[in-house]
Amino acid sequence: MRLGSEEHKNRFCRFFIDTHKPFQPEDLPWPELNEATVKKLAGFPIWDYAVHTERQVFNKLTAYAETVPDPLLKEALALQGYEEGRHADILKYFLKRYGIPFKEIPDKRLPKNLEWCFLSTGAGECIDSFFAFGFLEISKSTDDYPIELINAMEPIVQEEARHILFIQNWMLYQRFKRPFFLQPWHALTTLFAFADAGYRRLKDLGSLGGTSFTIHAREIEGSSLSPKAFINLCHKENRRRLAPYDPELVRPRLIPRIMKVVQSCL
Ligand SMILES: [Fe+2]
Ligand SMILES: [Fe+2]
Repeated sequence: MRLGSEEHKNRFCRFFIDTHKPFQPEDLPWPELNEATVKKLAGFPIWDYAVHTERQVFNKLTAYAETVPDPLLKEALALQGYEEGRHADILKYFLKRYGIPFKEIPDKRLPKNLEWCFLSTGAGECIDSFFAFGFLEISKSTDDYPIELINAMEPIVQEEARHILFIQNWMLYQRFKRPFFLQPWHALTTLFAFADAGYRRLKDLGSLGGTSFTIHAREIEGSSLSPKAFINLCHKENRRRLAPYDPELVRPRLIPRIMKVVQSCL
């Protein structure tokens, strides 16, 4: 399969559409939680921001999908937008169900360049997911949260694996369908999107801001895993989560490669 070809486009769009799971937030197997767990969850300062972020991604993707003329690509992009909107709805359902208070942050105006917007959001998702898959495995092995709650969230986590596989192939498709001399410019733009998303996350971490990424990063400090072992776990989980899908599709590689370098320096 040639990257940037019609076959490439058909494969990454079809994989995405065919593996979509229809369900509603209330269909997930929500467990009963004790008061202490609910109190602990309510103490996280991330909920307003988390709902807002998912909602913004829904808005961006839905608007971007509208501008794409290719019907198959449009359908796949709109579907990812739908899934992001469902993430916001799942979070809201979860918060309401357990009586955790949150404030709705009003939607922000969308930027003009919607393709760049998807590229930069996608780069952020690739970074977050690489680590989130590892964090989730750690949470399963500690008693911090009931395993039933972690399992209820499983379909959402697996959806993020599908998203990053789609995003990686969409990025490559956008690059390789361009004339040869324009491809390096696209590669640079992608690199910039990753650098920007990475910088924003490091800034959050430095200021101990309220993102879930930060909260999890602080949690790992309390676990017995060494940073090297944690990165190993992330690599393993990334491979495992992406394994069920079309082997011809290119797996996200920038963050795993960077983390291999980081690992060799540890
Ligand atoms: Fe999401
Ligand atoms: Fe996503």
